[in-house]
Amino acid sequence: DKGGHKHFMAKEIAEQPGVIGQAISHYLSDRGEIMLPDGGIDFTKVDRITMVACGTASYACMTAKYWFEQIARIPVEVDVASEFRYREPPIPDRTLAVFVSQSGETADTLAALRYCDGKAQSILSVINVPESSIARESDLALPIYAGVEVGVASTKAFTCQLTVLLLLVLKAANDRGVLDDAALADHISALRGLPSVINTALEQNDMMRSAAYKLSSARDVLFLGRGQMFPLALEGALKLKEISYIHAEAYASGELKHGPIALVDEEVPVVVLAPKDALFDKTVSNMQEVMARKGKVILVSDADGLSEASHGVWESIEMPKVADILAPILYAIPAQLLAYHTAVAKGTDVDQPRNLAKSVTVE
Ligand code: F6R
Repeated sequence: DKGGHKHFMAKEIAEQPGVIGQAISHYLSDRGEIMLPDGGIDFTKVDRITMVACGTASYACMTAKYWFEQIARIPVEVDVASEFRYREPPIPDRTLAVFVSQSGETADTLAALRYCDGKAQSILSVINVPESSIARESDLALPIYAGVEVGVASTKAFTCQLTVLLLLVLKAANDRGVLDDAALADHISALRGLPSVINTALEQNDMMRSAAYKLSSARDVLFLGRGQMFPLALEGALKLKEISYIHAEAYASGELKHGPIALVDEEVPVVVLAPKDALFDKTVSNMQEVMARKGKVILVSDADGLSEASHGVWESIEMPKVADILAPILYAIPAQLLAYHTAVAKGTDVDQPRNLAKSVTVE
């Protein structure tokens, strides 16, 4: 049942404020403490984290790497499962291995988990299906409470993965004594406001539809982001190619001048994900390099960012202002809706894109 929407993907995008709110409340006590099942993880005994996943779930891991390193000060390595499993990396003592998977059945991710079994200190998974193989074979499985996801392109599972990973990071940081109770309480109160902020972002649907209409005639699209927005740029590019079949690539903004800027001309739209944070000015200077080469910029930012930098852009999309650490979850919305409306404009099969399966249980 598509609940009045044209596609499951649209329904699942719209469900995000509700399911994110549920995920948050499952992990918070009335007193605002973060609770993990089964006694959780002793983060004071963890020296490093290895995170492994495929596709969109691997971008959730990449985002969590920025959070774990900046907020909890734990070094993190991220890899896609198909590479990790055959690389057979050494796993040092006191390594926590984390596997992220919506289905919990992805063959490469499961094989990577089995490789870590007996080597890592503990195996944690972040899954949507609690009875899945990955959940069963983990020491601790954290459900994301997204509900059934039907659309092949992952949407609400991604933002719920990010939400649960952020709670895990905050817990780790507090347990390790690098985030005091007052700062933790501030982050948690911001997090409780996230569903309503996501709602506000969803209300910008018309802006995203009109930008997407312009994207639908492009042959190639670039996505740029810096810091924690880089994985979101990757997610935006993946969503666009998988459902609209438009070639899209994402780069860390600072990498542009090391090669990809050669692609930019007046035919190439460039989507720039840039909330007004500490890295904003750097990203904007990369964006201006694109505009100097006649690239058509779609700038996604908040009101402050747009008033500072939207002069001369092709399209601008306004996101509400949020605490820095929440920006990756919020900016998933424009990444999803740009791809969705582009696919609808092109008339592709949004929920069942060609050549793709929802759950990849073979290698
Ligand atoms: C993209 C997408 C895929 C999955 C990947 C992992 O929209 O859905 O990239 O994220 O196949 O699947 P799970 O999370 O089930 O392991």
